[in-house]
Amino acid sequence: MNFEKYPFEKLSLLLADIMPNDKYEPSVLTIGEPKFETPQFIQDELKNSTALLQKYPASAGLSELRKAMISFVAKRFNVNLNLNQIIPTFGTREVLFNFPQFALFDKENPVMAYTNPFYQIYEGAAKASRAEVIYINLNEENNFKAHLSDKELKKCDLVILNFPNNPTSSTMNKEELVWWVKKALEFDFILLNDECYSEIFFDEKNKPICLLEASIEAGNKDFKNILVLNSISKRSSAPGLRSGFIAGDEKILKDYMKYRTYVGCASPVPLQKAAALAWEEQSHVEEFRKIYKKNFELAKEILGIEIPEATFYIWLKVNDELEFTRNLYKEKNIKVLPGSFLGRAGLGKNYVRIALVENEEKTKKVLLRLKEFIDEQK
Ligand SMILES: Cc1ncc(COP(=O)(O)O)c(C=O)c1O
Repeated sequence: MNFEKYPFEKLSLLLADIMPNDKYEPSVLTIGEPKFETPQFIQDELKNSTALLQKYPASAGLSELRKAMISFVAKRFNVNLNLNQIIPTFGTREVLFNFPQFALFDKENPVMAYTNPFYQIYEGAAKASRAEVIYINLNEENNFKAHLSDKELKKCDLVILNFPNNPTSSTMNKEELVWWVKKALEFDFILLNDECYSEIFFDEKNKPICLLEASIEAGNKDFKNILVLNSISKRSSAPGLRSGFIAGDEKILKDYMKYRTYVGCASPVPLQKAAALAWEEQSHVEEFRKIYKKNFELAKEILGIEIPEATFYIWLKVNDELEFTRNLYKEKNIKVLPGSFLGRAGLGKNYVRIALVENEEKTKKVLLRLKEFIDEQK
């Protein structure tokens, strides 16, 4: 299968012949992996549950895990789900790869649309599904908001949105998502929003909304054609716990559940026990948010950027993203990700993605060095 090289592999090749300036400590701002310790209570639950390794995990997940996830959705988004409207998953990456294959399997000429630039698994899933792809381009002209024409929407079988967005940090408000829900009903396609970054926000009065809220607002209370994904990886600084969920249209999820029993990606029971606690608990998430907020305040002060509503990425406009990335590594020993590695058809060109996933002290140091580099280029 003709999968693209992963962005990090492309980056290694881009930087392979460069000797970085060893006057500075290496700084890696490329990967969206929080660098904070997973909270102790989550680790303790995992350790205390190891006896349960004796059991095969059920694909449907422990009911306590489903309940914890349902409670998270209710508290955070004011959306009440029943037990058939949610499936615990092994992180969200596996879902993003296998759900399109499930959803498009019966289509003769499957068509899938997704935001561009994007998390590369969407593209792998489209290839594995032999789907024609329609890019939903996010650029400065459209303020990084998703839009397609009716002519394009009519062709779609599956649309993946990703708001809050990786890598552009843009968000869509309720009204804008209601528009998408209505289109999913009008043209009868599945609409899925990848909401992995919904909990990394900075203003309590302006939190990212969930596509399920928009569905209710649109009068689609049983979530026909509508699904969301969320994950504990960024929210709880626990990407190794592999806990996510897919929620929404009960009819689609019933068939998808059957499919998943064959995929065999059920999460080990001790991981599920720890994840259940993490989904229920909110205060640790608030603490992480404070760190990300502080990091962005520093970025605003030092680089003069606007603080986005959500995510931990800076989508920084530069002249030539490849040259910028190479020179920054050479002169300041800082690695960032060229935007063009994350987009297709020219999207992401002239941008780099910078992940602010370190503590305040490290972030301040590296941002000052980055600013020095930018000033030296002028
Ligand atoms: C947009 C987006 N979706 C999904 C994922 C996958 O996260 P996980 O499988 O850890 O839930 C990531 C991880 O970086 C991501 O950036």
